[in-house]
Order: sequence, then C-alpha cells, then structure tokens
Amino acid sequence: MTGLPPPGERCTPELFDAGEPVAVAYAPGDRLLVQVREPAVLAVVSGTQTRIPQEATIVLSSESRADTGHTLFHTNSGGGLACASCHPEGHDDGRVWDLDGEGSRRTQDPSGGLLKTAPFHWNGDMPDFSTLAKNVFVGRMSGPALSVEQTRAMQSWVEALPELPPLRATSEPAVARGKALFESPATACTSCHGGDQLTNNNSSPWAPVRCSRCRRCGAWAGARRTCTTAARPRCPTDSPTPPAAAAISTA
Ligand code: HEC
Ligand code: HEC
Repeated sequence: MTGLPPPGERCTPELFDAGEPVAVAYAPGDRLLVQVREPAVLAVVSGTQTRIPQEATIVLSSESRADTGHTLFHTNSGGGLACASCHPEGHDDGRVWDLDGEGSRRTQDPSGGLLKTAPFHWNGDMPDFSTLAKNVFVGRMSGPALSVEQTRAMQSWVEALPELPPLRATSEPAVARGKALFESPATACTSCHGGDQLTNNNSSPWAPVRCSRCRRCGAWAGARRTCTTAARPRCPTDSPTPPAAAAISTA
C-alpha cells in the first residue's frame, strides 16, 4: 500500500471535499474505493493524490439524499464530536459515558420511532426532542444554538431511523416462550413495558436493587412467601418485588 498515507497519518481533508464517505475498501493496485453517500458516487483513489479526479468517480445515483437533519447529526458541534460519534448510524455505541454531574450513562438507541417513547434520557428529564437537542448539542457538546428549523430537521431524521432487525427470528420457540413470560402476570413486565414501543412513558423511581434470595427457602426478599432463616435479606420497601422463582419457568 505504498500510495496510502503512512500509518498514523490521517487522510487528507481534501478527500472529504468529495462529499460524505460512508465506506472504504481496498482494491488491487494500491487503490482505495470510497463510497460517498451524498452525492452518491464511488470514488477510486490511487497513489498519493489528494483530490479525487472527476474521471475516477462512478456516479451511483443522480438523486440527491441531502438532508439537513442527517448533516447536523453528523456534524462536529465544535466540541470535537458529533451526535453520530456516540450514535453511529443513528443507533448506539454500546458504551457507558461518564457525564459531568450526571454520572455514568449507557448510550441509548434512538431508532425505531423515538417520539412515542418520550420523555427521553434515562432520567426521563427531557420532555421533548427540542429540549434534548438544546441540552445535548449546546450543553454537553459545546455547539452553537440550533434554530427551530434545524432542530425540527434533526428530529424528523431521528424519528425516521429504522429499528435494528431483531437478533432472533420470531419463529424460534425461545422467542415465543420469552414473549409469553414477558407478558405473563408473574413477571408483570408489560405493566411498564406495554404497547408497541414497550413503554408506559412513565419514569419509575428505583431504589437501588439489592434484593437477594433467602438462602434457605429460595424466596426473594420482599416476596410474600415467609422465609424462616435468621439471615433473611431485606429489600427496600419501595423496590419492585421480583417474582417468586417458582412462577418463572424457562423450560
Ligand atoms: C458522548 C456521547 C453522546 C453524544 C455525542 C450524543 N449522545 Fe445521545 N445519548 C448518549 C447517552 C449516554 C445517552 C443517555 C443519556 C442520559 O441518560 O443522560 C443518550 C441518549 C440519547 C437519546 C434518548 C433516547 C431515549 O430513548 O430516551 C436521544 C434521542 C439522543 N441521545 C440523541 C442524540 C442527539 C440528537 C445528539 C446530538 C445533538 C446526541 N444524542 C449526542 C450519548 C451521546
Ligand atoms: C415498575 C416498572 C417496570 C417493570 C415492572 C419492568 N421494567 Fe424494565 N425498565 C423500567 C424502567 C424505568 C427502565 C429504565 C431503567 C433505568 O433508567 O435505569 C427499564 C429498563 C429495562 C430494560 C433496558 C432497556 C434498554 O433500552 O436498555 C430492559 C431490557 C427491561 N427493562 C426489561 C424488563 C423486563 C424483562 C421486565 C420484567 C421481568 C421489566 N423490565 C419490568 C421499568 C420497568
């Protein structure tokens, strides 16, 4: 790969003048294929060239996909990061971020119809998207204030993000068993995770869950079964009662 920048050196900024690169692949003869989203082209980069010559560009579509919402979501706010840095492809990076004054927060995936799941953020303290965009883009990301139109464009783009496909086929027996369990009165999951979006849109105050099972009778602390051991663990009274073990069968 003699023609490419030495390891550790970044691609020249000129490369990005070509548009919005979304994928790269090596091709024979020290060449790189760069797929550019907007305008939709496949650029063939070779040697030490810093600009993509017109003739080395294969036009994939003449239809424009320009979208202010997409652009803003992928723009460096000025603080050195974009929304997409933590929400790649509009999903999540699987990381836990230590946010000043908030503590540790795992990135959430905003795809699959965000608006119906309001309020947002783990604390449920963001009543709508514009509050979130302002708080995050300006507050957490040191970006400039967004206009109403820009916020609306970003909201529309995020709202249209398709949900990731499920990991398992719905035809698998384990999926049906899990669904039955999830919807059963024994687990009561649907009392909070109901409807299409699996939420009742309420924020539940959680006591730290330190419940454990009684070592002698197997009952969960806080459950209505009587536990006779002296070492009976105690649960904070306001934490939800885990279901009795006997009620859950994964067989
Ligand atoms: C540093 C990583 C990071 C960046 C940058 C980031 N997010 Fe997030 N995102 C998170 C984390 C972490 C959470 C959970 C935050 C919390 O609970 O306080 C989250 C939560 C969200 C949620 C809430 C989803 C829900 O179901 O409640 C939305 C929507 C969202 N982010 C959109 C955005 C947008 C839009 C931007 C850019 C303006 C952005 N994020 C920038 C990490 C990030
Ligand atoms: C009392 C209401 C309530 C019940 C009952 C409940 N949940 Fe939750 N669930 C929540 C809340 C609130 C959150 C967000 C937790 C947080 O902010 O830390 C959550 C989060 C989750 C998450 C993480 C979602 C994500 O986006 O990462 C999963 C998975 C989950 N619950 C599954 C279940 C299952 C399975 C059950 C039944 C055994 C259940 N929940 C019962 C309220 C509930």
